[in-house]
Amino acid sequence: MVSEIPELSNPSVCMRDPQRVEEILQSMVKAGSNTVQVIADFDMTLTRFAYKGKRCPTCHNILDNSNLISNECREELKVLLDTYYPIEIDSARSIAEKLPLMVEWWTKAHKIMVQQKIRKDLLATAVRDSDAMLREGYQLLFDHLHEHSIPLLIFSAGIGDILEEVIRQAGVFHSNVKVFSNYMDFDESGLLKAFKGELIHIYNKREGALLNTGHFQELRTRPNVLLLGDSLGDLTMADGVQDMENILKIGFLNDKVEERKQSYLDSYDIVLVQDETLEVPNAIILHLT
Ligand code: C5P
Ligand code: MG
Repeated sequence: MVSEIPELSNPSVCMRDPQRVEEILQSMVKAGSNTVQVIADFDMTLTRFAYKGKRCPTCHNILDNSNLISNECREELKVLLDTYYPIEIDSARSIAEKLPLMVEWWTKAHKIMVQQKIRKDLLATAVRDSDAMLREGYQLLFDHLHEHSIPLLIFSAGIGDILEEVIRQAGVFHSNVKVFSNYMDFDESGLLKAFKGELIHIYNKREGALLNTGHFQELRTRPNVLLLGDSLGDLTMADGVQDMENILKIGFLNDKVEERKQSYLDSYDIVLVQDETLEVPNAIILHLT
């Protein structure tokens, strides 16, 4: 079967156990595409990490770089990014050690954003003017899943309002797409006053939390999961899927490749090393449908 998907021989592909990947794919094909759901992280998974040698922005960075915030604020957010991003990708620190620091990062950044009273009606322009880019092949991924009525759950520690705008502007915010993320709360004049609900950061992504809300009933009946992520925190995104039959985990390893490769190989079934495309996930989805 692995041999039936030539893209799995791409130079960016690394697998700890190709035989296991083959077995999972076989069971998923047998179960049928109406039992499959895709759970994907957003920033640096569905979006590009870099384009022409330049880093692409996360949802947060789209605001950091926009003129919706003051220069002073931009400086503060940059200091936070330069302080906490190296911690996020530091393979020498445990998740337990990183977790409180990540909560600190998100909390501080959101506080600064709220102080700026960001205008809701300007978000679309900020996204349009940004360098955010979905990975090459995104159209096929979104359109094909929609055509085959396969749910796509985007589970993001980014900002829901921004993320939705990115996929809306790309013309792929189809009805099968559900988003679970941090959403902005605006006052009656359309100014940011807070973030809604419980904070989602990279280490508390658990689908269970959202299934409890009773919103995503359909996802319960789809026990075969294709998971796409770029952080080790993304591995728990499918934890709430009940009676899971099979899960195939695909991880994008974008940064600090040498230091992190082994841990990615240990946790993801397929690791895509500095691969800016969705070629491999697309080939797998086409194979399953
Ligand atoms: O969509 P995803 O869950 O990947 O979004 C989380 C990403 O947002 C993190 O990987 C982190 O690097 C980034 N982030 C950021 N600025 C913040 C907080 C998080 O760029 N203030
Ligand atoms: Mg990510």
